[in-house]
Amino acid sequence: MTKIIDRVTIVTGASRGIGRAVAEQLAEAGCMVVAAARAQHAEETVATILASGGRAELASLDVTEPDAVRNLVSDVVKRLGRIDVLVANAGIARDQLLLRLQRKDWDDVLATNLTAVFTCVQAVLRPMIRQRFGRIITISSVVGQMGNAGQASYAASKAGLIGFTKAVAKEVASRGVTANVVAPGLIDTDMTRALGSEGRDNWQSLVPLGRMGTPADVAHAVRFLASDEASYITGQVVGVNGGMYM
Ligand SMILES: NC(=O)c1ccc[n+]([C@@H]2O[C@H](COP(=O)([O-])OP(=O)(O)OC[C@H]3O[C@@H](n4cnc5c(N)ncnc54)[C@H](OP(=O)(O)O)[C@@H]3O)[C@@H](O)[C@H]2O)c1
Repeated sequence: MTKIIDRVTIVTGASRGIGRAVAEQLAEAGCMVVAAARAQHAEETVATILASGGRAELASLDVTEPDAVRNLVSDVVKRLGRIDVLVANAGIARDQLLLRLQRKDWDDVLATNLTAVFTCVQAVLRPMIRQRFGRIITISSVVGQMGNAGQASYAASKAGLIGFTKAVAKEVASRGVTANVVAPGLIDTDMTRALGSEGRDNWQSLVPLGRMGTPADVAHAVRFLASDEASYITGQVVGVNGGMYM
C-alpha cells in the first residue's frame, strides 16, 4: 500500500460515501486528516480513524461559506504547521430536465460543486506555494466528461472543475504543487442510491466492468495522486468508472 507519511490533509465532504473512504485511506497511509463536513457530520469518520490508530480531527465546515473555508485553512496551518493535501470532494446533485430546472437548483449546484472548490483551492494555495509542496485533488465526475440527460447543472459544474484544475496545475507547477482530477463513474453511495434501482441498473448497463464502483475504488486513486509516487503527474483526469468512459 502507498505510504504517505506525515502529510497534513483536508478532505471536504468526509462524512460519508467517497469522502469518508478517502479520509480513512489517507489516514491509513499515514496522513493527518482533517475530516470536514457540515455540522459535526464527519464525527463517525474521525472516530473510525482514531480507533484504528490513525490521526484525524473533525472540522465543521460548509464549503459554500468562503470565510469558514479560509478560517479552517489558516487554523490548520497555524496549529499543524502546514497543509499538504486538499481533496475537494464535497458535492451535490439536483437532477432535473433542463426545461424544468429551477435557477435556484442551478445556483446551488454550481455554488457547492464549482465555486466552493475555487474557494478551497485558493485558500490552500499560498501556504502550499510557500512550503513548495502541495497536492490538490478535485473530485469531478464521468458526467462532466460525457454529459447526462437531467444533469445539466451537475455536468456543467463537474466539467468546469476539469478546466479549473488544469488551469491551477499550470499556474503552480513550478512551485512543487500538483493539481489533478479524479472523475468517478457510478459509485455506490447515498448520491446514487437516490437514483432508485431502475436508475442504477440503467447506469450499470453502461459499465464494461459490469459492476458499480465502491468508494474505496475512488479512494485508491486519490491516495496514489496524494503520494510521492505521483510527483510527476499534474493536470490529469483520472477516470475511476469501470470503463464507462474511455
Ligand atoms: N457517487 C457517485 O456515483 C459519484 C460519481 C461521480 C462523482 N461523484 C462526486 O463525488 C463526490 C462525493 O460524492 P458521494 O457520492 O460520496 O456523495 P454523498 O454520499 O452524497 O456525500 C456528499 C458529501 O458532500 C458533503 N457536502 C455536501 N454539501 C456540502 C457543503 N455545502 N459543505 C460541506 N460538505 C458538503 C456531504 O456532507 P454533509 O454530511 O455535510 O451533507 C457529504 O459528506 C461529489 O463531489 C460527487 O459529485 C460521485
